[in-house]
Amino acid sequence: MSLPLSSRASEFPNLHPSSHPLVIHNLTELTDERTSSRAFRVLVRRLTTLLIYEATAGLPLVDTSYRTPMESTTGGRLAQRIGLVPILRAGLGMVEPALDALPDAEVWHLGLYRDEETKQPVSYYNRLPERCPDDHVIILDPMLATGGSASDAVDVVKAWGAPSISFVGLIAAPEGVSRMLVRHPDVPIFVAALHRQLNAQAFILPGLGDAGDRQFGTG
Ligand code: PRP
Repeated sequence: MSLPLSSRASEFPNLHPSSHPLVIHNLTELTDERTSSRAFRVLVRRLTTLLIYEATAGLPLVDTSYRTPMESTTGGRLAQRIGLVPILRAGLGMVEPALDALPDAEVWHLGLYRDEETKQPVSYYNRLPERCPDDHVIILDPMLATGGSASDAVDVVKAWGAPSISFVGLIAAPEGVSRMLVRHPDVPIFVAALHRQLNAQAFILPGLGDAGDRQFGTG
């Protein structure tokens, strides 16, 4: 099967693109220009569910003893307190499916938008409390383009005191993954796919356009 995706994924030790057929199938629908905002939101939810499943495969468990209706046994419960940090706006659509998988997670909001001229991220909202109460923080944003927004978000979350951080997105460009590798090599990136490149306006190719606009019917 030939996909219009980047063959560079193996260059990036911080990158974990999915190879799951359900992810590729849903990503194809998501990125199709004919997909309506209504369908786009459903696909963002479905892909986030699948990607959170992959991104949390390494979470530690603690052994626990309990009883089934039949007898005593042992099982495992999540050992860590998890925080979700969606980057507004586009990360909002990923919160509910992430909470479905991690119902005890806390949600902390960060607002960043990319200035259309400079392509630099601009911070406009931060609702993080004084100290990070979580053991692991998952940053949610569908797009990693230049990587400016994700890198700045990780700066904020690290300064906040998060002991470990991962990033879950839908698509990434090599330029953004490379920037994250330089600035935050300790943060694994889980995405549906690595796309080919950025265009002159720093949009991802083949890409999906603007994830915020497509989710919310704006622009
Ligand atoms: C998009 C996207 C990321 C950022 C990626 O948000 O959701 O936050 O751009 O670009 P970068 O990697 O080059 O920083 P946008 O600025 O369009 O804001 P929005 O979520 O409000 O639509």
